[in-house]
Amino acid sequence: MNTLDEERRRLTEMFDIAPSRVLYAVSVLGVADRVPPGGSTVERIAAAVGTDAQRLGRLVRAAETLGIFRVDAAGTVRLTPAGTLLRSDQPGSLRAEFSDNALFTAWGPFAETVRGGAPSYDLANGTSIFAGMSGDPGALVTFHAHMRMRAQQLYRSLLPFLLRRCAEDVVDLAGGTGGLSELLLEGDAAVRVTLTDLPEVIALVPPDMLRRHGDRFSAEPGDMRAGIPRGYGTYLLGSVLHDWADDEAAEILRCCADGMVPGSELILLERVLAESGPDPRRMGDMWMMAMTGGRERTRQEWAELAGSAGLTLRHVHHGAGEISAVVLGRSG
Ligand SMILES: C[S@@+](CC[C@H](N)C(=O)[O-])C[C@H]1O[C@@H](n2cnc3c(N)ncnc32)[C@H](O)[C@@H]1O
Repeated sequence: MNTLDEERRRLTEMFDIAPSRVLYAVSVLGVADRVPPGGSTVERIAAAVGTDAQRLGRLVRAAETLGIFRVDAAGTVRLTPAGTLLRSDQPGSLRAEFSDNALFTAWGPFAETVRGGAPSYDLANGTSIFAGMSGDPGALVTFHAHMRMRAQQLYRSLLPFLLRRCAEDVVDLAGGTGGLSELLLEGDAAVRVTLTDLPEVIALVPPDMLRRHGDRFSAEPGDMRAGIPRGYGTYLLGSVLHDWADDEAAEILRCCADGMVPGSELILLERVLAESGPDPRRMGDMWMMAMTGGRERTRQEWAELAGSAGLTLRHVHHGAGEISAVVLGRSG
């Protein structure tokens, strides 16, 4: 095969949306939930999920090719370890996220967004992703369960750095239901954490978290765009600013700067893109452009954004994963 043929194959494979749709159909139909440990047949699964057996059989075979099921010669369907992640009862399940069709349809008007229009999600769904969620309690619960799990996975490799750098009193700003707060509280018996987020999100903080950590942990409703708790040593802002375009992100940072005192630090947990050259995290940047109108940023872009809000970038710590800690202090 010559180089151009290989490139044609590579691009065609990348362009294929079928694998993503197969994962969606398996998830939304709850197929993995109907496969017991000993396996089942396509006919039994089809009856349980209410689909055509022949078509479900083809879906199962396609999903087998993606490593979700194993089908033996007798036709018994079993889940692979990857397949268990599409079960509702599996800790860390991806089923709810993969069942969200709006994440797929949101990409329809993407070229319009690149042209300068609103986020593709808003164009496709007639509302922003966050406004849609605040009117849909089920979606809010699903989103925050996902964010909590994501925080515990993605921030873990930064924990030793955070525990060294953080003051004893930390504010986890816009911290969702406390995934990051929990990591800190479990990582160091001396640290005290105040979690803040919008009232409807604070209402979802697991009650046992409040019980377990006693007076080392509190959860307070608050709008970070109106003001933050004043005078703490360390503020954390995890995966928030990438949701926002530069003007709005700068406004949030200015609000943070107003609440900080000279010794305070604000630590952003965010992706730091390569200044130049290919970087797989650039796909995350496309997700932000499409879904929220936000963006991922390079170190230089973080420094400029901080500077526009009266803050200085002091240090960037790269963990083992895709998220880094970007340490900001008040300028001057
Ligand atoms: C992408 S989530 C990140 C959650 C958490 N920091 C984490 O790392 O998992 C963005 C968070 O910002 C919160 N948020 C959005 N607007 C806010 C506001 N005006 N004041 C406080 N929190 C806000 C959302 O409720 C949500 O929890």
